[in-house]
Amino acid sequence: MGNRTDFWNMNRAELNKHDVSLKERYAEYKNQTMKLDMSRGKPCPEQLELSKSMLDLVTSKGLDGSDFLNYGGVDGISEAKELFSQILEVRSNEIIIGGNSSLAMMHDTLSRAMLHGVYGGGLPWGKQSAVKFLCPSPGYDRHFAICELLNIEMIAVDMLHDGPDMDAVEKLVDQDDTIKGIWCVPKYSNPDGITYSDQTVDRLANMKTKARDFRIFWDDAYTVHHMTDKPDYLKNILNACKEAGNPDRVFIFCSTSKVTFPGAGVAAMAASVENVTDIRKQIAVQTIGPDKINQLRHVRFLKDMDHVRRHMEKHAAIIKPKFEMVLNKLESELGGKNIATWNKPNGGYFISLNTLDGCARIVVKMAAEAGVTLTAAGATFPYGKDPLDRNIRIAPTFPSLKELEKSIEVLCICIQLASIDKILTER
Ligand SMILES: Cc1ncc(COP(=O)(O)O)c(C=O)c1O
Repeated sequence: MGNRTDFWNMNRAELNKHDVSLKERYAEYKNQTMKLDMSRGKPCPEQLELSKSMLDLVTSKGLDGSDFLNYGGVDGISEAKELFSQILEVRSNEIIIGGNSSLAMMHDTLSRAMLHGVYGGGLPWGKQSAVKFLCPSPGYDRHFAICELLNIEMIAVDMLHDGPDMDAVEKLVDQDDTIKGIWCVPKYSNPDGITYSDQTVDRLANMKTKARDFRIFWDDAYTVHHMTDKPDYLKNILNACKEAGNPDRVFIFCSTSKVTFPGAGVAAMAASVENVTDIRKQIAVQTIGPDKINQLRHVRFLKDMDHVRRHMEKHAAIIKPKFEMVLNKLESELGGKNIATWNKPNGGYFISLNTLDGCARIVVKMAAEAGVTLTAAGATFPYGKDPLDRNIRIAPTFPSLKELEKSIEVLCICIQLASIDKILTER
């Protein structure tokens, strides 16, 4: 600790000496039989407490007197559409309110495209010769799981500092009409914490796609989840698509899972009126109506964008110290050693860390043996295969500060041990 010497400049004896003291620290943690879970981006109990009062706001009638206890309102109550239109900066007739999960909406939207095709497109995707999706990576494992389930071939595209590698994306979609879509987490991306630049948004909206039924799946899961008072700005993709003459190109998704309650929040999607009309007809066959009571209490609790902002500041006050602690610990344990790099996000739920090539899998395994569960190595890439075996996703929100500190210490010890092993083997 405190020693910032570049591991690559250390001789064999120095590395061995370091290895011995790290192994002692590792053994100490192993003997503690800890059980710390940092694998998923879940809000902690204190964050859930922030929204508990919402549960008392239950009523049965909407502003216009409509009865929320009965069937109906297949695409959501107008009050919820108004709130989400502010959150996503679209018109309320461009919104469909869903159930509690945006992931379920994404799954259903993709399933519908496979079974029935998309608005203005040709055959159902599932009836075409092949279906491929571009997967900016590292990315969100559950997006990739949907593709795997539906037999959609995934093509990994590198994530750069301002979004996906757009040179690669443009080239691929221009040449292959079986590439039907791309997954995007455009703000505080999972796991890199990157926000797409204006130029990336414009290029996605304007690019020439050989598939005329191409869709961008814009998962704006972290749109209000800032951790600084200078939030990242994300250009409005629906407007950009309209301006580019491709108004139907994008499906936008979000939810209040990490605003109020994961599992009991409200999800929404947004798209052109034509897309929304097309999808609404299909949803009307699937359900006679969503949980309107939950939508209403969310609107009563969150009120408007100003209240949402203030509510999210309370979340930030709880989770920011956790992110800061992780970043400080990474710097003090790994800084200057030339064995790992990590991002410093302005929001979202994750810190993405890259070890030396070929070390992530062994680090995650060693951490697990010392009682620290991390997201599986490789999970942030299609088919669970990180070609360089180096990306580790850190999810700091759920554990307490104390648990988190121990977990990161273990992680840093494991990274150093795996790095020494690699360096010595390569010499
Ligand atoms: C990028 C992203 N999208 C979607 C979700 C899940 O959203 P929901 O709870 O609305 O299904 C998560 C949860 O971690 C996420 O990271």
